[in-house]
Amino acid sequence: MSESTYKIQEEELIRGDIAEYLNRHETKDLLRILTCGSVDDGKSTLIGRLLYDSHMIYEDQLEKITKDSKVYGTTNEDFDPALLTDGLKAEREQGITIDVAYRYFSTDKRKFIISDCPGHEQYTRNMATGASTCNLATILIDARYGVITQTKRHSFICSLLGIKHVVVAVNKMDLVDWSEEKYNEIVRDYNAFVSRLAFSDIHFIPMSALKGDNVVEHSENLSWYDGPTFLHHLENVNISTDRNLIDMRLPVQYVLRPNLDFRGFSGTMASGVIRVGDEVASLPSRQQSKIKAIYGPDGQVEEAFAPQAITATLEDEIDVSRGNMLVPVNNIPHIGNEFEAMVVWMHEGAAQSGKSYLIKHTASMIPGVLSDIRYKVDVNTMKRDKNVDEETEKVSTLDLNEIARCHITLHRPIAFDPYDKNHTTGAFIIVDRLSNVTVGAGMIVDRIVSKPGHKTAPVSQNIVKSESLVTQADREKLLNQKGATIWLTGLSGSGKSTVAKDLEKELIGQGHLCYILDGDNVRHGLNRDLGFSMEDRKENIRRIAEVAALMNDAGVIVITSFISPYISDRASAREVIGDDAFVEVFIDTPIEICEQRDPKGLYKKARAGEIQQFTGISDPYEAPQDAELTVETENLEPAAAAALIIGDLKDRGLIG
Ligand code: ADX
Repeated sequence: MSESTYKIQEEELIRGDIAEYLNRHETKDLLRILTCGSVDDGKSTLIGRLLYDSHMIYEDQLEKITKDSKVYGTTNEDFDPALLTDGLKAEREQGITIDVAYRYFSTDKRKFIISDCPGHEQYTRNMATGASTCNLATILIDARYGVITQTKRHSFICSLLGIKHVVVAVNKMDLVDWSEEKYNEIVRDYNAFVSRLAFSDIHFIPMSALKGDNVVEHSENLSWYDGPTFLHHLENVNISTDRNLIDMRLPVQYVLRPNLDFRGFSGTMASGVIRVGDEVASLPSRQQSKIKAIYGPDGQVEEAFAPQAITATLEDEIDVSRGNMLVPVNNIPHIGNEFEAMVVWMHEGAAQSGKSYLIKHTASMIPGVLSDIRYKVDVNTMKRDKNVDEETEKVSTLDLNEIARCHITLHRPIAFDPYDKNHTTGAFIIVDRLSNVTVGAGMIVDRIVSKPGHKTAPVSQNIVKSESLVTQADREKLLNQKGATIWLTGLSGSGKSTVAKDLEKELIGQGHLCYILDGDNVRHGLNRDLGFSMEDRKENIRRIAEVAALMNDAGVIVITSFISPYISDRASAREVIGDDAFVEVFIDTPIEICEQRDPKGLYKKARAGEIQQFTGISDPYEAPQDAELTVETENLEPAAAAALIIGDLKDRGLIG
C-alpha cells in the first residue's frame, strides 16, 4: 500500500470509528531512533523528508516552510525539508543543530520517536543522553566524503550505549552521480571498521534526503539498489527480542505508606516480569518475602513488566527503603561497591582519579571515586590508546569526550548487572559534588576481573605499610611450628569439611595451633555478600587467601575447605600465600559418589533446577593438574585421609 492510500484509509477510520483508530494507535509498538551525523551530512533534511513524504505535516506548517525556504533555505529549491525539523532558531541562524531534539510521528505499523543528536565533537554529552533509550541508530554518511572520524566516534558510542540496530544512511548520492561503485566502497569501509563493535544488525541504504530518493519512496535514480526504503526499514526492523524479560529488577523509588495497613514499594520496572506470588529479595539486605499485590496506573494487576511504573506490596514486613531493589530470590544481580565500567567524560573540567563524585545509579545517589582510570579507548581504532601502557603508565585524568575503562569504588554497596544484560541497572551517571552538574556517564562492564596473581592496587592513596617489631619467624619459634596453609579443594560432598575437622583435631592433638576456614562458615560472615558466579567465587577465594596469609604470618597453620573450582583462583591464592607455605590437596571423589552422598541435599535441588550455577552440575570444576597431594576419599575414612595429609606435611618439613 502506498503512503497516500494509507493516509486516506486512516482518515476514513478517524471519521468512521475514532475509537478503533485510537485503539490501533495505542497498541502500535514504538521505535526510538537516534540520528547521528556531522553538521553537513543532512540529518535535519532526512528527518524533514521523512515527515514530509509520510504526510506528517500540518498544512499551515507546510505553507510557512515553503515561504521560509525562500528566505533561509540553503538548497536553491522551492522546498528545504531541513526547515521542517528545525524548531530551533539557533540552527537556522548558525546552520547547526545544538541540542538533542525529539520528534514524534507514526505510520500504520509503528510509532516513532526521533532523537536528533548534534554533530559537533563537543556534543557527545547530548548524544549519550539521547541514545540511552534508543533501539536504532541512523548513522549518516555524506557519500562524497565516506567514513570519517565522526562516523566512527558516533558508531562507537552507540555500541557502548547498547544500541543493537544500525542503519547507515549513505546520503547525498545525487552529488556522486548515484554511483553504485562509490556506495559499495563506503559499505566496505564501514564494515571493515564496525566488526569490532557489538551491533546485532547493520543495514545500508543509499539515498538523497534532499530529493527524497529512497527515504519513503523507491528511487529511479538508484535502481541498482533493491533493498527497502528508509521508512520501510524503520517500520519493519525486529526489536522485540531486545527487551530483557528474564531478569526481574524493581528499583524502589518511593515507599508509599498512606496508612498503617498499607506499605507499597513504587518504581519503574527496569527489566523482567513481576507476578503476584513471586518470591523476592530486597537488596542489599537480602531479606526475602513474596509479592502480595501489584498496582498499575489503572488499579490492581496480576503481573507487570518493564518499563511499567508500578507499586508492589509484600506479604512480610521486611526492610525495604528508597534506593533498594526488589529481585527474584533465584536471580540475584551482583552486590558490591566495586566494579569496572566504560566511562564517557562529558565535562570541560577533566575527571580525576581519586576525586570524590556522586554516582547516580537507578534510584540511589552514592559517593564514590574513579579509583583507577585503567586505559583510554581511541575511537578511531576501537583499541586501547596506544600512548598509554596499562602496566607502566598511570592515566590520572580524563578529558571532555574521552572514553576510558575505569575502576569505580563506592562508599556503600549497590545491586547491579553488567550493562549488556540490563541497561538500567548497568548504567550510572557521575555528578560533580559541588556544582551538581552531570559530568560523565558510565556503563558497567563487570565486577573487577584481575589476571591470575595480578593484585589490583589499593583504592586508597597515601597508605604506607607498617612493619611490626617482631617477625613471623619469632612467632613461629614461640609456637614451635611453621605457618602454612593446607588448601583442600574438591566438589561439594567430596568430604573436604570432614577431612578438615579430623586434620584439625589431630594437629591440635600433636601440639600444633591450627584453624579451619570453611566455605559454608565464611559465607555466613566475611563473605556473606558473595554468591556463586565466577566473579563471586574469585572474590571468595581472594579474601580467603588474604586471611590465610595473615594467619600464616601469625604463625598459625590454616586448613581451608572451599570448592575453589577454578585453577586460576587457586593459582592466585598460592601467589598471595607464597609457594613454600601453600599445600594444595585435591580431595578427589567422583561426582557420582558426591551426588549419592548429597549430605546437604543440594545436588537434588540442583538437578531440579532449584539451585543455579551448582558446581559439577551447572558450573564447572577444574581439577588440579599439579596439586601437592591427591587424596581419593571414595574408599577412605576421613581420619585416614587426615593421616595421609599429616604424613605429607612432615615430609615437607612443615611440622615436626
Ligand atoms: S567456592 O566455589 O566459592 O569455593 P565455597 O566452598 O565457598 O564455594 O562454598 C560451597 C558451599 O556452598 C557448598 O559446599 C554448598 O554447601 C554451598 N552451595 C550453595 N550453592 C552452591 C552452588 N551453586 N555451587 C556450589 N556450592 C554451593
